[in-house]
Amino acid sequence: MSLETGIAPAPVQADRTVRRQQTARRPWLDHWLDTCRDLSTLTASHPMMDAVIDEIDGRMIRVGEKWLADFASCNYLGFDLDREIIDAIPAYLDAWGTHPSWSRLLGSPVLYEQIEERLTDLLGSADSLVLPTITHIHMSVIPLLAASGTIFIDSRAHKTIYDGCQIARSRGAAVKRFQHNDPDHLEQLLRVERDQMRLVCMDGVNSMTGNAPDLHAFADVAARHGALLYIDDAHGFGVIGERGPDETSPYGMRGNCVVRHFGESYDNVILVGGFSKAYSSLLAFVACPTDVKQLLKVAAPPYLYSGPSPVASLATVLKGLDVNEQRGDALRAIIWKHSSRVLRLLRELGVATPNRSELPIIEVPIRDHRRISAVGQRLFDRGVYVTLAAYPLVPKSEVGFRIQLTAANTDVEVDSLLAAIEELAGEGELMSADDLDHHLEGGAA
Ligand SMILES: Cc1ncc(COP(=O)(O)O)c(C=O)c1O
Repeated sequence: MSLETGIAPAPVQADRTVRRQQTARRPWLDHWLDTCRDLSTLTASHPMMDAVIDEIDGRMIRVGEKWLADFASCNYLGFDLDREIIDAIPAYLDAWGTHPSWSRLLGSPVLYEQIEERLTDLLGSADSLVLPTITHIHMSVIPLLAASGTIFIDSRAHKTIYDGCQIARSRGAAVKRFQHNDPDHLEQLLRVERDQMRLVCMDGVNSMTGNAPDLHAFADVAARHGALLYIDDAHGFGVIGERGPDETSPYGMRGNCVVRHFGESYDNVILVGGFSKAYSSLLAFVACPTDVKQLLKVAAPPYLYSGPSPVASLATVLKGLDVNEQRGDALRAIIWKHSSRVLRLLRELGVATPNRSELPIIEVPIRDHRRISAVGQRLFDRGVYVTLAAYPLVPKSEVGFRIQLTAANTDVEVDSLLAAIEELAGEGELMSADDLDHHLEGGAA
C-alpha cells in the first residue's frame, strides 16, 4: 500500500521494488553498520539506550512502565524544571510568536542583543556572539580562525571540535594532535612549528572525565608561542566560575566559565560555551573581541544562513540569567553536595573514576567492557538512569557509565544511585581505583 495514495501497487511495480531491494548493493551501509556493531547491538537491545521517555516528574522519568531517577541529564542548574523560568516564557511567546525564522543576518529579535550584552557582562569578555549550537560554532568559527595555518588539537577533544578541524583542514589548515591535557607536549609541537598562524583547540571542563585542564599552563604556552587558544566549555558554563570569599562550593561563583575560574584573561582566548546544558536552552555563544564578532557576522554561515533558536529558548536564557544571579550559587551548592556524596562513596569502595574535580560529571569504568549491557540492565532494574559509555564511543578500556548530577535531583534519588553503585561494586563489576591508576600510568588509550 502506497503511503501517499493509499492504493496497493500493481503487481509488476511491486515485483520491481522487491527486485531492486534485493539487488541494491549498499556497501557504505554495511561498512558503517559493521564499524558501529557493538553500539548498534546495544542500542537495539538495551532499555537505557535510545529510550523513549514517556513522562517526567521532576528528575524522575518514566520509560514504559518503569520509573527511574535520571542521572543522564545535563540540565545542571535544573532550569528545565524551574517554575520561575517556566512561568516567564508565555509572555515572550505572546510578544514574539514561537519562532521568528529569519537567519540572524536577516534580522535578530532584540532579545539577542539583550542576551549578548548580559552574557558579555557575566563572562567579563570583550564581546560575545550567540548562535544556535556549539556544533554550528565549531563548524564555522574554527575554519575561520585557523585559515590556512596550523591547528593543535587536544587528542581527547570533543568530537564536534574534531569535526570543525576537519572542515578547516579541507580549506587548507594543517591539524596536529597533542596528548590529552599535556601542555608540555603542546609546547614541543609549537616549538618546532614554522607556521605563524597557530590555533590551539581544546575542551574546558571535559565531558567525560569532569575535569578542567590546567588553564594557566595552556594559556602560558599558547601566549609564549603566539597561538590563539580556543576553548569549548560546554559543561563548565553555569557550573564553574570566578573564585571569591563568598563562594558556596569549590566550583566558584556565577558559573561564568573556566577562564574566569582560573582568573585568566581573554587576551589570547576565544571561549565557546552553550546554554543547552546548565541553562536548558537551545543556544550557544562565542566570547571574543568585537572585531572577531564583526568578522563572524559576515563570514560564519550559521549567522548568515541558519534558522534561529526558538523564542522559548531565548526567553529561558534571559530569565535563566536572572535566576543565575539570584539563586545560581545556591543551586551550585546543591550540585556539589550531590556530586561529593557520589565521589565519597566511590572513594570508600575503592572504585575508579577519573573525576578529580568534584564537578557533576562522574564516569565509572567497568571491569570487563563486555559486561556493559548487564551492568546497564542492573542499573535500570534498580531504577537508575545513566549514560552508558559503550565501545566505540569510548575505548574498550574505558567502557562504563557516566553519572551527571543536577540541582533538580533529590537526596532520595541520590540514595538510590548510591545503593546501586554499592551493589555493582559488591559484585565486582566496577573497575578498582588501582586498576585505573595502572591504566593511566601505562598511558593506554
Ligand atoms: C564538550 C561539548 N561540546 C559541544 C557539544 C555540542 O553542543 P551543542 O548541542 O550546542 O552543539 C557537546 C554536547 O554534548 C559537548 O559536550
